[in-house]
Amino acid sequence: MSIKTISTKPFSDQKPGTSGLRKSVPTFQEPNYLENFVQSIFDSLEDCQGKTIVLGGDGRYYNRQAIQTILKMAAANGIGRILVGCNGIVSTPAASCLIRENKALGGIILSASHNPGGPKGDFGIKYNIDNGGPAPEKVTSAIFERSKTIDNYKILEAADINLDKPGSFKLGTMDVEVIDAVAPYVKLMQSLFDFDAIKGLLTSGKFSMCMDSLHAVTGPYAKAIFEDCLGAPAGTVKNGVPLEDFGGGHPDPNLVYAHELVEVMFGNNVPNFGAASDGDGDRNMILGSNFFVNPSDSLAVITANAHLVPGYKDGLAGVARSMPTSEAVDRVAKEAGFDCYETPTGWKFFGNLLDANKATICGEESFGTGSNHVREKDGLWAVLFWLNIVAARGESVEEIVKSHWQKYGRNFYSRHDYEEVDAGKAKELMERLRSMTGDLKGVTFGNYEVEYSDDFSYTDPVDGSVAQKQGLRIGFTDGSRIVFRLSGTGTKGATLRVYLESYEPDSSKHGLDTQEALGELIKIADEIAKIREFTGRDKPTVIT
Ligand code: G1P
Ligand code: ZN
Repeated sequence: MSIKTISTKPFSDQKPGTSGLRKSVPTFQEPNYLENFVQSIFDSLEDCQGKTIVLGGDGRYYNRQAIQTILKMAAANGIGRILVGCNGIVSTPAASCLIRENKALGGIILSASHNPGGPKGDFGIKYNIDNGGPAPEKVTSAIFERSKTIDNYKILEAADINLDKPGSFKLGTMDVEVIDAVAPYVKLMQSLFDFDAIKGLLTSGKFSMCMDSLHAVTGPYAKAIFEDCLGAPAGTVKNGVPLEDFGGGHPDPNLVYAHELVEVMFGNNVPNFGAASDGDGDRNMILGSNFFVNPSDSLAVITANAHLVPGYKDGLAGVARSMPTSEAVDRVAKEAGFDCYETPTGWKFFGNLLDANKATICGEESFGTGSNHVREKDGLWAVLFWLNIVAARGESVEEIVKSHWQKYGRNFYSRHDYEEVDAGKAKELMERLRSMTGDLKGVTFGNYEVEYSDDFSYTDPVDGSVAQKQGLRIGFTDGSRIVFRLSGTGTKGATLRVYLESYEPDSSKHGLDTQEALGELIKIADEIAKIREFTGRDKPTVIT
C-alpha cells in the first residue's frame, strides 16, 4: 500500500452553506471534486495526526463510494483511527453522539439532509468538530479558503474496506473500525427519557403511533427504539429501510413531502401519534390525530414540559431559537425565568451556547429541535420527548398544544418557500429590501405599523464572533413579524423563504386557520417585497 499524491486544480464553488457543502451527485462525481474538498478539510485541521475521526452518512446514492475514498484519504493524511458506521450509515445526531463519546477530533458526515437523493439527486459533506457539532464559521471559512488554492491531494492505494458488518481493519497505519452506530444512540436516549412510561403508553392497547422514516436513515434507529425497546407493534415504523434514493421521495418531514403519513393521520380512526424524520435523521415532524404541531410550537411545548422528562427534570439553563423561529418559546422562557437566545439560521450557531451551558434546549422552525445531549438537532429525540410528555400528562397531542396556547397565547406562524426561483432575481429582491430596511420605521401597512426593520446580525455571546446579513426582519408594533431570507442549503437556483408571525392572546381566536390569521401579513409581505413580480410565481411552492 503506497500513498499517492495526485495533482488537482481548485474548484471555485466549494463554499459550505448553512450545513456543509451540498451539490448534485453529478457535481460530486466530477474528477477530484470530492477529493479536493476532503483534502481541504484535512489541510484546515490544526493537528489531525494520529487522531480519531467518525465517518458516516445518511445512506444516499454515492455514500458508499465517497466513504471508500475518504477512508483512503484519511489514511494518507495521517489520521490514526476512523470509526465508520456499518454500511457507511450513521444518522447525523448519532454521529454527533459518537464523536462525543469517543472523544474524537471530529467527524465527516455525508448527507444532503432533506434534499432528494439518487444519481441525479443531491449529495453533501460536512465537517463536525470535537464537541460533536457542525464546524463553526471560522472552520468552514478556512476549508473554503484552502479549496481555492489546493493543488494536490493524498490518497492511499488500497482495496476497499468491507462495510457490511462490524469489524476491525488496517489501512496503512490507520485503524478502521466498522461499528454498529445504532446501539450507542439508543443507550443515550434511554438515559434521557422515561422508557418505562413510554412503553406503558405504547403497550396499553389505547394508544397507537406511526413513525415514517421516509426510507431514510432513521429506519434502523426507530425500529430498535420503538419496536424492540418500547414494545410498539412491528410495522409501527413505516418506510424503515434506508434506500439510496429514498424510494424516489423527498425525505423532508413536512405536510407536503411526508404526505403518506399525513394521509394516515388525518381521517377517521387514525393513530394517536404520528412522526416523521428527514434524510439524515436530524429533523422531525410531530402530528396528533388530525392535528399538526407547528415546529415553533413544538419547541415551546417541549421547553414548557421539560420538567416531566427525566433528563431535564432539574431545570433548563436557557433556550435558544433561530431568528426566524416564532417567539412562542420566548414566552415560556420569560415565564420560567431563564434566558432565550436568538441566533442566525443553522445549528452551528447553537454550539457555543450549548458548550457554555447557556442553553439546554434549542430549536428551529425548520422542523429541528435538540438539546445539549449532542450538538446536532435530533429527530428521534424530539419524537421521544413528545411521547414522554404525552405519557406523563395523559393528554392527547392536540390537548397539550391547545392548553399551551391557552396559557401563553398563540403565535400564529407560517413559512412560505418559493423554491428554485431565478437566483439573480432573488438576489435583486433581497438587495432591494436591504436598501429599504432603514426607512420603514413608522410606516403603516393596513392595520400594521412598522416598529423596526433590519438585516439581522448576531454577535456570539461566548466567542464574540459576528455573523451579518442573516435575514431581513420587519417587526410591527403589535409584535408581528415578517422575515425574508434566501436558503443556504438549496442546490438549484435560489429558494426564497418568507416567515410570517403574529401573536394572539385571545383564546377564543386560537381556532382560526393559520393562513387566514396571517392573511393580512401575507399580503403585506408581497406588497413590501414584490414577491410575485420578482419570482414570477403567484404562490409559494411549500407552505408550512
Ligand atoms: C435550512 C433550514 C435551517 C436548517 C438547515 C439545515 O436552511 O432553514 O433552519 O438549519 O436547513 O437543516 P436554509 O435552506 O434555510 O439555509
Ligand atoms: Zn437533516
